[in-house]
Amino acid sequence: MRRLFPPFEYSAAPTAPTAPGPQESPSAGRPWTLEEIADAYAYPVTTTTAAAGKAGGTGGAGQAPQPWLRGNMVASLDGAAHHGGRSQPLSSDADMRIFGVLRALADAVVVGAETVRREGYRPARRREAFAARREAAGQGPAPAIAVVSASLDLDFSLPLFTEPSVPTLVLTGAAAPAGRQEAARGAGAVVVHAGEGAEVDPARVPGVLAGHGHTRLLTEGGPRLLGRFAAAGVLDELCLTVSPRITAGDAARILDGPGFETPVEYELTSLLEEDGFLFSRYRRSRGPARK
Ligand SMILES: NC(=O)c1ccc[n+]([C@@H]2O[C@H](COP(=O)([O-])OP(=O)(O)OC[C@H]3O[C@@H](n4cnc5c(N)ncnc54)[C@H](OP(=O)(O)O)[C@@H]3O)[C@@H](O)[C@H]2O)c1
Repeated sequence: MRRLFPPFEYSAAPTAPTAPGPQESPSAGRPWTLEEIADAYAYPVTTTTAAAGKAGGTGGAGQAPQPWLRGNMVASLDGAAHHGGRSQPLSSDADMRIFGVLRALADAVVVGAETVRREGYRPARRREAFAARREAAGQGPAPAIAVVSASLDLDFSLPLFTEPSVPTLVLTGAAAPAGRQEAARGAGAVVVHAGEGAEVDPARVPGVLAGHGHTRLLTEGGPRLLGRFAAAGVLDELCLTVSPRITAGDAARILDGPGFETPVEYELTSLLEEDGFLFSRYRRSRGPARK
């Protein structure tokens, strides 16, 4: 793994948030340890003062922690978010390592129901390598999976709902089918309302999850859910893997949904490379958008 940005020669102290990862020469190219990747992707820790902007997962003394919503997606070189309905054909070992680390850093993983249906989602598992880090951060053994659905057309007999180490959340609207809400509860899931109709109001999701003690949030998509979060202005950060593969076809891009009136600006905070895969990290800009 090589760090391409920020460039080695300009990087600050190893703990600076804009200089993640090992402080080796960019040409070293050795695989990073899980610890090094975790340091590189640590959730931002900032003050909650208005001048400093939004806080990360941990607030200062006496201040309530503010939620931070990070997205993690992989796209082909030509912009496809899946191939044949799965993201795996676009991925790599390094991508899966980072995917796993991002999960291990999160309090909750928010995912759209279609991704659960198509990708056969399983509960996040406890990983020994992250046990001490999670305990020190006040986190449970594994992140909770939070499935977003209006129809609740989900198979509640799956291990995702019946066998998680921490209960799976089902994020839905208050008017979602009552029988399906009951079925979710019966399976052991925690049903959480974040909308008055059947749908979830994406803008409410970070606050609602923070109310359940989850502030370090990760969404793994899919594209329609990510599009809703971005349109609602709550996508704080995007970790995007660019896969050196092309697919053509009609797969969705990583954000699917109506176009924005004005493009929303994000700034690059980190760029890593391994085996031709680019691992970028962008944070929503707080300044005025460029024309
Ligand atoms: N490239 C990547 O990194 C990546 C990541 C994830 C997934 N994928 C791929 O993306 C595809 C699936 O993505 P997708 O865009 O079709 O679906 P998706 O975003 O995973 O899920 C869409 C579903 O989520 C629920 N949903 C979304 N917004 C909602 C809201 N505001 N309120 C209530 N429910 C809401 C609805 O579920 P109900 O229909 O149950 O109401 C909706 O049908 C798969 O092929 C998967 O492989 C790729």
